[in-house]
Amino acid sequence: MEIIRVKDAQAGGKKAFELIEAAINEGAGVLGLATGSTPETLYQEMIHSSRDYSEIVSINLDEYVGLSSEDSQSYRQFMNQHLFNEKPFKESFVPNGKAENLQAECTRYDQIIAEHPIDLQILGIGQNGHIGFNEPGTAFDSQTHLVDLTESTINANKRFFDKVEDVPTQALSMGIGSIMKAKKIILMAYGENKQAAIKGMIDGEVTEALPASVLQNHPNVVVIVDEAAAATL
Ligand code: F6R
Repeated sequence: MEIIRVKDAQAGGKKAFELIEAAINEGAGVLGLATGSTPETLYQEMIHSSRDYSEIVSINLDEYVGLSSEDSQSYRQFMNQHLFNEKPFKESFVPNGKAENLQAECTRYDQIIAEHPIDLQILGIGQNGHIGFNEPGTAFDSQTHLVDLTESTINANKRFFDKVEDVPTQALSMGIGSIMKAKKIILMAYGENKQAAIKGMIDGEVTEALPASVLQNHPNVVVIVDEAAAATL
């Protein structure tokens, strides 16, 4: 793993943007994207750049179960608001959290990933070490699957909702096996509340109890951390 320390999220977004630019210039055509607060500064850089993404395909990591793509709290809407409305991609895939048959939706999403091998995957990290919504205990060879979100994740994400009862308790998430197939991975982490997860991911043992630790087994990972997240490294 290459560790890049930056001052803050602003600088981290700039750095990640430079790495994406380099990858696209070298031919990357499929980007794996994430939601949450962490990639927001990166998406700002992308929006304000002159880069045209209309020939690039994007595949998002996850979506809440029970929220339609029109719902303002859905990850599809998050992506529209933070990136796609300003920078349309050729195609942008997000799991359908309202699918009648969630198992069939997982299979469909795996086919999409198989047909569009991910050149560069963007990741955040949960305080419990999750990547995507792959919570502790998820198998390292997992494919897209239905997830029961942990209390830690529900609490961390309640800031995006009016009240904690409104946070969906389930999600569809790309599996760890699919994330690991990406040619290159950039994981970003900002803030003190990510310290323990980052320390475990980089210096701890590789264990399903801390999903992000699997990245130690990937040959091409860049970790962008601010001073607060890197404080105990
Ligand atoms: C989001 C995702 C999650 C987040 C993680 C960190 O698509 O897959 O793994 O990256 O929960 O969230 P933030 O960035 O809000 O701290």
